[in-house]
Amino acid sequence: MPATVIVGLQWGDEGKGKATDVLAEHVGYVVRYQGGDNAGHTIVLGREVFKLHLVPSGVLSPHIVPLIGPGVVVNPATLIRELDGLVARGVDVSRVRVARAAHVILPYHVALDRASEARLGHEGIGTTHRGIGPAYADRALRVGIRMEDLLDPAALRRGLERVVPDANAQLAHLGDPGEPFLVEALLETAVGWGERLRPHIADTTAIVQDALRAGEHVLLEGAQGTLLDLDHGSYPFVTSSSPVAGGACTGGGVGPLQVTEVIGVMKAYTTRVGSGPYPTELHGPIGEGIAARGHEFGTTTGRRRRVGWFDAVPLRHAVDVNSASGIVLNKLDILSGLDDVLLCVAYEIDGARVERWPASAAEVARARPIYERFPGWPEEIHEARTPDDLPPNARAYVRALEALAGTPIRLVSVGPERMQTVALDGRPLGAGRPGPGSAADRAAPGPATGPAAR
Ligand code: IMP
Repeated sequence: MPATVIVGLQWGDEGKGKATDVLAEHVGYVVRYQGGDNAGHTIVLGREVFKLHLVPSGVLSPHIVPLIGPGVVVNPATLIRELDGLVARGVDVSRVRVARAAHVILPYHVALDRASEARLGHEGIGTTHRGIGPAYADRALRVGIRMEDLLDPAALRRGLERVVPDANAQLAHLGDPGEPFLVEALLETAVGWGERLRPHIADTTAIVQDALRAGEHVLLEGAQGTLLDLDHGSYPFVTSSSPVAGGACTGGGVGPLQVTEVIGVMKAYTTRVGSGPYPTELHGPIGEGIAARGHEFGTTTGRRRRVGWFDAVPLRHAVDVNSASGIVLNKLDILSGLDDVLLCVAYEIDGARVERWPASAAEVARARPIYERFPGWPEEIHEARTPDDLPPNARAYVRALEALAGTPIRLVSVGPERMQTVALDGRPLGAGRPGPGSAADRAAPGPATGPAAR
């Protein structure tokens, strides 16, 4: 009964989709366990590219059951749009299941998210405006609407009658110029969602547990990353869920002792979307160059991601709180051509050397990075497939990251395609299938997934 968790070790957008993709052929189930349509990954279907925010990428592999667990907040309009988009491209979505217990993002959550960000102005969190925080807030207040309520108009009406007046009052208080939300209109929309999604709404925890009991391999796919975690990130500049591996248990429906492997995913540099302290942020042409080569633009919002050198201070923290048993290092190829590559090994805060990630965002904001400098490598490395194919300077950088992480880097990604990987310990996470766009892929029609890119 193996259960593998894939978790982001940075601020999201680490390329978790590619790691999922590499593992996909070995697993029977892929479970999203937190977040909502604030996440995003790019899917390549033959020559068509489109973006999914909610449906796990496993949907493209006919042997995989894709599940959206109870820890996810679901915007049904997004889910229906994605399912319809997949159907239109000939993908069988009949296996997709969404938890009865998952909470629903309603239009007033989206309005509240926008209105509270607007009121905070430049002090805002820089959310994705998808209503994530307000939906999780209603869940914690126990006034949320759950997916199962969409199938029960009477319960739905009771729920909306309780919460909608409060949402309208809050919106008025925030100075939102929109019309108040009406229960009747919301009810009609939500009942329609329920009708459309009825075949997909299920007890996903029971499905996961049955699968584990039957010896199936379950992959729990995190969205966002450790440094955006509500408890372990730089609060309040975080998302409203638990992207860490522990969140896979609560949000996916597995027990801690059922998790057999935690794969942490990170990029060879860092990016961050939205506000919040970022000690290694690059403001000049080097950062712009990395952003351009790495296509660092959000899948969900289109915003250019902030870019910085790799920061090993939060890395140690992320490895610890996730108990990462192995690491996938993505986008090493993007650093090719730099004269030097800098690696932050510690901070100086108020005159003291600090190696532990500070729990306080205010302290992180005062941190000055202490760097080690590594000579760069001019060579493109897209064709590297074994450690020996990597230039010595690139190998030295990877080994330094591994030593700082204190856990093995199992796979290094040198390009977006599935085969563009180097297995450092000779134990590939997955093997064989070519990625999208490759010669073999073009010869064999059918879906393939691309790299994660929000
Ligand atoms: P929210 O999740 O929309 O509430 O946004 C909270 C913070 O998390 C903001 O800084 C967002 O930019 C960031 N965020 C949310 N989802 C992602 C993601 O998938 N990748 C990277 N950043 C994200």
